[in-house]
Amino acid sequence: MPDISTPDRADKPMRSLLFVPADSEKKIAKGLETAADALVLDLEDSVMPERKSAARAALAELLAAHPSSYRGALWVRINPLNTEYALEDLCAVVGPALKGILLPKCEGPGDVETASRYIDALARRAGLTDDRIGILPVVTETAAAPFTLGAYREAALPRLWGMTWGAEDLSSAIGAATNMAPDGNWAFTYKMVRSQCLLAAKAANVQAIETLYVDFSDDAGLRRSCVEARREGFNGRFAIHPAQVDGINESFMPATDEVNEARSIVAAFAQAGNAGTVGMHGRMLDIPHLKQAQKVLELHESFGG
Ligand code: COA
Ligand code: MG
Repeated sequence: MPDISTPDRADKPMRSLLFVPADSEKKIAKGLETAADALVLDLEDSVMPERKSAARAALAELLAAHPSSYRGALWVRINPLNTEYALEDLCAVVGPALKGILLPKCEGPGDVETASRYIDALARRAGLTDDRIGILPVVTETAAAPFTLGAYREAALPRLWGMTWGAEDLSSAIGAATNMAPDGNWAFTYKMVRSQCLLAAKAANVQAIETLYVDFSDDAGLRRSCVEARREGFNGRFAIHPAQVDGINESFMPATDEVNEARSIVAAFAQAGNAGTVGMHGRMLDIPHLKQAQKVLELHESFGG
């Protein structure tokens, strides 16, 4: 089989990332009991200004206690870098239990670099010597941000773990009355930045994370939308309610027939020695098919398939 391995900065993939307001002890306890691959403890928009400081202190305590019963990763959404809160947020949460930072209203690779430098200093203070703490920027929340998307792949950003997008803050930033088209789908501007985010993430060889699905009582709609997103190349999705976690986890896994097909493709290439192209069931398969099949199997195996 030809050697097609590429260096991949991405860590173990995450299918579901559950937002939990950091000022709600009850929701944090509940979140820790879910099967979410990550909790994103939120210090930004779900916490009122007068509660930021208490929420930050509670998170510092939680992370110091390092809840070991939870099998997922602990991430924190800090406040945007241009606010008075961002640096204090980072000071409170950077430490060995933190897996990553969700960076809202990111304006470009320069913001990721700034956040990286802050984290570098704080990680050193905590005795952490590597780049383990990742950064997931939300890259479409201001009118200017999408114009920088092509630059992430050129920037040296070892902490860049993935990229995600959002429609709510963008529509408010541009004074739009809505972000929806009359047919209930995203309006053109949001479809455009969604695709740009996907491409930018893949070009930078990091995870692409789909935005949240607002209607948390619509399980069938959520699953349909997740399956579509995965088929387009997204690796995972935010949840805003525990009821969304199973639907997201299941939809971002390859189906049994996909896994079987991937196994056959890998076997066909293995049998063909060093050939870059093989025939299977009357179809030509080449290296992109092999790569895709290997990705499917990796994903399947990384979640104990
Ligand atoms: N994480 C953990 N637990 C959650 C949760 C979440 N995101 N959302 C709801 N729960 C808990 C509730 O506390 C409730 O617990 P209980 O049964 O012990 O009372 C249970 O799940 C059922 O919740 P429900 O009554 O259906 O929803 P709600 O009206 O309490 O909350 C929201 C609705 C939208 C306010 C809530 O889901 C939420 O806070 N989501 C996250 C918001 C967020 O972080 N936004 C920032 C990113 S956009
Ligand atoms: Mg927001």
